[in-house]
Amino acid sequence: MNKQITSPKYQELLQQATVNINGEIIPASDAKISIFDRGFLYGDSIYEVTYGEDYHLLHFDEHIRRLKRSADLIGMNLFISEQEIIENTLNTLRSSHLKDCYVRIIITRGETEMSLDPNTSTKNNLIIIVKPKPIYPASLYQHGIKLAIVSVLRNDRKATNPSAKSGNYLNNVMAMAEAREKGFEDAIMINQNGNITEGTTFNVWMIRNGIIQTAPATSGLLEGITRQIILDLCEEQRLPCKIENFTPEDILKADEAFITSSTRGIIPVAQINDKLYSPKRPIIQNLTQYFQAKILEHKKNKKYYYGP
Ligand SMILES: Cc1ncc(COP(=O)(O)O)c(C=O)c1O
Repeated sequence: MNKQITSPKYQELLQQATVNINGEIIPASDAKISIFDRGFLYGDSIYEVTYGEDYHLLHFDEHIRRLKRSADLIGMNLFISEQEIIENTLNTLRSSHLKDCYVRIIITRGETEMSLDPNTSTKNNLIIIVKPKPIYPASLYQHGIKLAIVSVLRNDRKATNPSAKSGNYLNNVMAMAEAREKGFEDAIMINQNGNITEGTTFNVWMIRNGIIQTAPATSGLLEGITRQIILDLCEEQRLPCKIENFTPEDILKADEAFITSSTRGIIPVAQINDKLYSPKRPIIQNLTQYFQAKILEHKKNKKYYYGP
């Protein structure tokens, strides 16, 4: 086989990441999972991504709840208790000594005899990866992200249900590849009915005539933790907001658009396809201020503090 070279960024990751496999903290370069693991063979796994800021693990209860929901949605037996997941995550965070970090918790349906039958699985593999929090440039928050509405459809809810945060992201990988090929940073996917669902790793919002709008779960999307925070904020602050289907045509006519995810918070959209959004974004600016205040408030709750 030709000599293959791994990227320098991957080498950096190996040095910076702290990994926990089934309760054991292992140097990232030695962290190995069996080739017979169903996560590797079939994408038969679930996961969560959250982050730590100033030694506070944020919105962890919500992420644990969604992890369990994902397991239910794909009929995955959890042989690991919620307490074990929490304790192992906090141990890994403490070992990392990282004040600000990215946390990924993966649970696979374990190793089996290469049968698709999920009932052959009798244990899970729990993998926790902690690494420095990615630094998104201030310019991204200032200028916004450029997105393409791609031809790859979001999975139908009757297929791999997007409400489950499963490790099966090939569809989203293909969507991202198409957007990159077209010179955009990331992708928005529509469903079989032609409605907007979400992005590859984020929820999508538009603002028209002062009304903040995002798509319903029935369109086929992951109900983001950040999406829920924004919905709650809108209610608290009495900002006009609705959860309703919308089409590419609608978002291309919108006054403002933005995306949300745990690690990125709120990022304004600069462009979708050929449409350029105005750099004046009064509603997004307002919402971002409320959102930042909410995160500060959340950090006062020391429930998942992992610092010295
Ligand atoms: C497909 C998809 N949609 C939405 C989100 C945003 O969810 P959250 O706000 O919980 O990070 C993610 C996050 O990874 C995602 O992968």
